[in-house]
Amino acid sequence: MVLEEYMSGRRVLPPHLRKQPDPEPEFEYVLRDATTADLPDIREIYNYYVLNTVVTFDEKAMSLREWRSKFAHLTKHGFPIIVAQSPSGQIHGYALVAPWRQKSAFRFTVENSIYIRPVSRGKGLGRVLLTALVERCRENGYREMIAVIADSGAEASLKLHADLGFTEVGRMGRVGFKFGHDVGTITLQKSLKKKSTH
Ligand SMILES: CC(C)(COP(=O)(O)OP(=O)(O)OC[C@H]1O[C@@H](n2cnc3c(N)ncnc32)[C@H](O)[C@@H]1OP(=O)(O)O)[C@@H](O)C(=O)NCCC(=O)NCCS
Repeated sequence: MVLEEYMSGRRVLPPHLRKQPDPEPEFEYVLRDATTADLPDIREIYNYYVLNTVVTFDEKAMSLREWRSKFAHLTKHGFPIIVAQSPSGQIHGYALVAPWRQKSAFRFTVENSIYIRPVSRGKGLGRVLLTALVERCRENGYREMIAVIADSGAEASLKLHADLGFTEVGRMGRVGFKFGHDVGTITLQKSLKKKSTH
């Protein structure tokens, strides 16, 4: 029986003749160190969260100039900035660390920052990026990693950090105020020291 007969009669094609939906495009990426060419993508990803969520306490979109200056400062001092790049060249997300505090005795402690493009969330990339960041920081000799996470709206981040062995070390209520609401922070910490084999 030909297609036209189905269309004029039963009008419903049997399953094997129906057009199959296009397969989901593969979620592919490579991890690599960020370069200045990635800063427009990084800025776009970060600014989405600045302007739409309380997961960051910044309220004003960051300019490219500010990102260039931040990138120069971090890379000059050897802090890793890792990006996940798709085969077409788009950045899916990034992870970086910055000094936890400026005073010199804090020099082995870093604070992380990880942001995934909204459409690329929930596909396991956050776990891959944060794992790579932890490993890189361990190789670089940092000893402790801190994550400061908003106490509302950041459930995925809390789950991810807990899964990777970060433990809660403190909470502060109402230290932020964004979109007309108080926001607090939950601080998590992970030791990066290599476990002794003895
Ligand atoms: C937090 C973030 C980095 C996680 O990255 P991701 O790629 O989306 O997360 P993954 O797919 O690797 O998932 C990590 C875990 O979180 C869980 N998760 C995802 N969304 C969740 C949600 N809304 N609530 C609870 N758990 C959630 C996943 O189920 C997964 O656990 P599982 O493997 O046991 O299923 C990402 O969602 C993001 O960029 N969020 C906005 C920015 C942000 O909060 N950054 C952190 C600032 S401290």
